[in-house]
Amino acid sequence: EKGGYDYFMLKEIAEQPKAVADTLLGRIDPSGSLTLDEVRISPSELREIDKVVIVACGTAFHAGLIAKYAIEHWTRIPCEVELASEFRYRDPILDGRSLVIAISQSGETMDTLMALRHAREQGSKVLAICNTNGSTIPRESDAVLYTHAGPEVAVASTKAFLTQLVACYLVALYLGQVRGTKWGDEIQAVIKDLSRISEEVDRVLETMEPVRALARTLALKNTVLFLGRHVGYPVALEGALKLKELAYMHAEGFAAGELKHGPIALIEEDVPVVIVVPSPRGRSVLHDKIVSNIQEIRARGARTIVIAEEGDEAVAPYADHLIRIPATPTLLQPLVATVPLQVFACELATARGNDVDQPRNLAKSVTVE
Ligand code: M6R
Repeated sequence: EKGGYDYFMLKEIAEQPKAVADTLLGRIDPSGSLTLDEVRISPSELREIDKVVIVACGTAFHAGLIAKYAIEHWTRIPCEVELASEFRYRDPILDGRSLVIAISQSGETMDTLMALRHAREQGSKVLAICNTNGSTIPRESDAVLYTHAGPEVAVASTKAFLTQLVACYLVALYLGQVRGTKWGDEIQAVIKDLSRISEEVDRVLETMEPVRALARTLALKNTVLFLGRHVGYPVALEGALKLKELAYMHAEGFAAGELKHGPIALIEEDVPVVIVVPSPRGRSVLHDKIVSNIQEIRARGARTIVIAEEGDEAVAPYADHLIRIPATPTLLQPLVATVPLQVFACELATARGNDVDQPRNLAKSVTVE
């Protein structure tokens, strides 16, 4: 049932192009607009929403962090993202005009379930983004947008994460479409890019051998740091989480702009630092800032592992290892940038002799608070 792979995780990483395509299937109509009939919240109700709050845990929380950039950009509705386990304990401000989005692969995560129950008690509508048909979280929500990743067996979430991102983009674009923002043309263009993105994910998978080779050389390290900016920041957090749970290494993700506010003190000779570089074509200011971060880190002797778009030549001189990803619109970059980090963590964990499908102390679904 592992389909010839040593681990479910490897199989699930390889299934990502299909999972992404399946999650888009039937949701983009031939004219290029979105039809999300499953979101049984009427367009007029969606137009009334004045706030979006996303609740989730772990990897699903990282998908939520990325969704915030997309939702605020395309809809101009303020969006908060909160760890489900913190949410209800701080008396959050919610009412009938808040849309709460609960993201969960399993649909059984207790913290997320308790957060959505709390939201409904306050009169908010809850939309679940979930991978498991008929599980508790979608059953208790007002509407559900299923991700079609298929069963995810490995404890570390991979294909579910990519499909959660797709679902979040769909919701953001749909809200933008329904509410008619000034980004109409961009929304149309991004829907088109999204419909082709599974091929790009496939292309990334075909180029992963050097990433595996690199990971094996780092098996004896104690720490790996991850830096990113804009949507690359949650990608950095996700890369670090994968490495923690699989390789049992100290791994931390930082917003690159925070470097000077503390984390740069951790940079020393030969520490591996993975940097997710934003597209030079999108927010070029951020791109240039991260290039100077890479220079600073390298000047302190760190080993720079740079994930950058094809054709981005400005980063090349400062990269000890350069991992290329296809050019995508800025907001969609996490769909391709996360894949090398999954492969990296999986290979490093294997090199350390760990069971990547069943990491120690972890369960696939956390049904207690
Ligand atoms: O089933 P859920 O999406 O609600 O699970 C949330 C987290 O427990 C989960 O993403 C966890 O962080 C994964 N092991 C990460 O790989």
